[in-house]
Amino acid sequence: MRMSVIGCGYLGAVHAAAMASIGHEVIGIDVDGRKIDALSKGEAPFFEPGLKDLLRDGIASGRLRFSTESADAEGSTVHFIGVGTPQQAGGYAADLTYVDKAVTDLLPHLRPGDVVAGKSTVPVGTAAQLAARIAPTGATLIWNPEFLREGWAVQDTIDPDRLVVGVPDGEDGQRAAQLMRDVFYPAVAKGTPFLVTDYATAELVKVAANAFLATKISFINAMAEIAEVTGADVTQLADAIGHDVRIGRRFLGAGIGFGGGCLPKDIRAFSARAEELGKGESVAFLREVDAINLRRRERAVQLVVDGLGGSVHGKRVAVLGAAFKPHSDDIRDSPALDAAVRLHGLGAAVIVTDPQAIENARRAHPQLTYVTDRDSALRGADAVLVVTEWDEYRRELDPAHVSALTDGRVVIDGRNCLDSAAWRAAGWHYYGMGRP
Ligand code: UGA
Repeated sequence: MRMSVIGCGYLGAVHAAAMASIGHEVIGIDVDGRKIDALSKGEAPFFEPGLKDLLRDGIASGRLRFSTESADAEGSTVHFIGVGTPQQAGGYAADLTYVDKAVTDLLPHLRPGDVVAGKSTVPVGTAAQLAARIAPTGATLIWNPEFLREGWAVQDTIDPDRLVVGVPDGEDGQRAAQLMRDVFYPAVAKGTPFLVTDYATAELVKVAANAFLATKISFINAMAEIAEVTGADVTQLADAIGHDVRIGRRFLGAGIGFGGGCLPKDIRAFSARAEELGKGESVAFLREVDAINLRRRERAVQLVVDGLGGSVHGKRVAVLGAAFKPHSDDIRDSPALDAAVRLHGLGAAVIVTDPQAIENARRAHPQLTYVTDRDSALRGADAVLVVTEWDEYRRELDPAHVSALTDGRVVIDGRNCLDSAAWRAAGWHYYGMGRP
């Protein structure tokens, strides 16, 4: 099938490459010429495991192309919209400028019978408004939320755990739903749940899923706060409640909390939209989820201060991790960098390292010192703060080896990912999050 993908960021670039890999003919469109140049050469503009190979294969096959021209969308049967919906400046609501512009640019190129498939995360009610704008062209709008996780984006796109398609009433809607079954034919053939809903449900499924995940993380982080004043160990608590299949252990990782380009802004946009709808109280708990999450960043910083005897001024702190999570170079709302910036503000000499995110981090926070090599970051450090649980830190950091590099013996495990007993046995003062 011929399809266009408007917006070639974390979502769109992966979607375009994945669609080409399953046999479709895809044109990826983005206003950013540099990004399009890179993608056209088979270079991924961001780190995502497996993406580079998919891009190269797609381009070599002739089924994957990239362009800055909206007109190149013409002739496609399906037009995916995967542009960003960041948090508005000065408010909690989502900024829909890019979605609106994508539709405006697409309108002159739509033909009767085309399907426009929105993938961006939008406030409930957006699809109905966009459908009214698209209707005169004879094209049909559907909403097809995306659930991919950065770091697993390729796999999540080709083999998702469910497909959700919000369609309008009537024959056009049913026809569009069938077309989407054809688009995602490998997943459909293997029996992946395929849910056809109305627009509002599809839009809400997305924000509800992210709100639930954020709530689960903040729940365990709230337990960490209680553990901290009672001497309990939140990791054991999570293991114990996680054995209950109704609860489940995943996303009960207590630590410095969630960040990234999705969870934080999505729960805020959801709150803002609920208030517009007169139902702010229904999701008032999301304010608390957000507050708990942000408190964990302060807590991690406080542990460094405490670990260094009450002040970090003039002390050297090695910060291991800058990305908001491993397997990604994304630093949007990264708890890791937030902690690093706060420590810098308190007068520490902060040396940040990360296997992938250094370039992005340096651009956003040039005031910090960055090194690509982990051991150089550790050399001479008074304290070590682990804030992104890359395997390089989680599995491969040997306390005896680190002792030979650092001046101090203070380690703060912002992701509860280190073996506390091993660090203590090697003579370190180990501080976890919600652990004795
Ligand atoms: C999230 C959702 O998981 C995806 O399903 C969704 O498609 C995506 O947002 C989106 O809306 O596009 P992502 O932002 O890639 O995916 O990251 P997650 O894996 O959800 O992690 C989010 C944050 O939570 C990270 O900072 C991570 O370190 C943190 N986290 C995760 C915890 O602090 N504890 C946990 O137990 C799990």
